[in-house]
Amino acid sequence: MPALTLIAALCFLLTTTHSYTPFSNETLSSLPRPDNKTFNIHTGTILAPLLHPRIPGTLGSKAVRQHITSFFATNLPTWNIEYQTSTSQIPIAGSPKTHFTNIIVSRDPPGIEPHNISRLTLAAHYDSLSDPELQGFIGAIDSAAPCAILMHLAQSIDAALSRKWDPASKGRNLNLNTTDPIGIQLIFFDGEETFAPTLLANDGLYGSRVLAAQWTVTAYPEFATYESRLDAITLFVLLDLLGSRNPTVPSFYPVTHGSYQHLADLERRLRELDLLNSDPDSDSASEADREEVQYPWFIDADLTAMDISRPIVQDDQVPFAALGVPVLHVIDVDPGTGAFPAVWHTMNDDGAHLDMSTVGDWGVLVTAFVGGCLGLEGYL
Ligand SMILES: *[C@@H]1O[C@H](CO)[C@@H](O)[C@H](O)[C@H]1NC(C)=O
Ligand SMILES: *[C@@H]1O[C@H](CO)[C@@H](O)[C@H](O)[C@H]1NC(C)=O
Ligand SMILES: *[C@@H]1O[C@H](CO)[C@@H](O)[C@H](O)[C@H]1NC(C)=O
Repeated sequence: MPALTLIAALCFLLTTTHSYTPFSNETLSSLPRPDNKTFNIHTGTILAPLLHPRIPGTLGSKAVRQHITSFFATNLPTWNIEYQTSTSQIPIAGSPKTHFTNIIVSRDPPGIEPHNISRLTLAAHYDSLSDPELQGFIGAIDSAAPCAILMHLAQSIDAALSRKWDPASKGRNLNLNTTDPIGIQLIFFDGEETFAPTLLANDGLYGSRVLAAQWTVTAYPEFATYESRLDAITLFVLLDLLGSRNPTVPSFYPVTHGSYQHLADLERRLRELDLLNSDPDSDSASEADREEVQYPWFIDADLTAMDISRPIVQDDQVPFAALGVPVLHVIDVDPGTGAFPAVWHTMNDDGAHLDMSTVGDWGVLVTAFVGGCLGLEGYL
């Protein structure tokens, strides 16, 4: 969907802490940006193949799945690719059972048993809305662009991970923390969108509900550091509805407000360094970008965790949050009205309506954040 719920996130006074080492100005300035070669909406090697209808169980969905997995298999062969499939009856009279396929790609530090590794987790959904009144609906912000941003992220940090984890460099490796080894996994969810025209409890979030349940019931061995693959998630960052101009991203979960503030801090620093192209002061800002610009994007940066009380948005983070996973929901929503970007669930949510400066800025921001979480300063 996602739809606003009236349930406010429980105000925990606890916040999770995991290590975070911010990138230097120099490293921020050197981060690769999504460019015309990768993100052109017609020819970009990463983004263009995602800008097609991707309704679960259709050939369009299969083609996009193949695009994502062949991108990793071809360009990033050290990343492990997994599929998780399930079948559900969707609430549309007379429809056959529908197959859903989540894609999980991951990269772990070497020489450590998988059940002793925690994983920074980022996710976006690759399915697109099925609505008889929106034939050919693309879902560019929902969530083709967020999927492309995750692929850009993986490509941008891959060589740095190799340098950090290369056994040959171990002697001079000051950042490798073997007491708390952390890897990374990216989840491309299927079946986020609902099928029925009215809200039903068991419609939507098909892929995320099944994956969260499976990762909690499949226990790790007895003496493992973590109880399950779910327990091993240090932080679950969900990207959704990103790619429109002037986003507003509230902070929903007190427990991850510290991570939210790291993102907010990166936005501020990248603007100071003129590294955000959607910024009116940036050298590369277009005429249009100089007008009507609103920031910060992270509107709750000045709040403390205790003050967070935004109504949460029903999305793929919910099944994970319900099981105690610390989640950070990065979604463009007006917290006053609950409104999503204007193109949301309309035929205008296509490649032509993406704000490419904003999409590129998201690529840089997310890469900078993940680099900080994984301690990649000095390895890029
Ligand atoms: C390694 O991680 C553990 C657990 O997060 C932390 O207590 C410890 O201080 C870290 N060590 C170094 C050298 O960063
Ligand atoms: C890793 O897991 C094994 C169980 O397979 C356990 O015996 C071992 O102590 C763990 N290692 C660390 C460093 O926690
Ligand atoms: C990083 O850049 C900001 C903005 O230009 C500047 O204020 C700050 O002093 C710089 N920090 C360092 C360590 O150079």
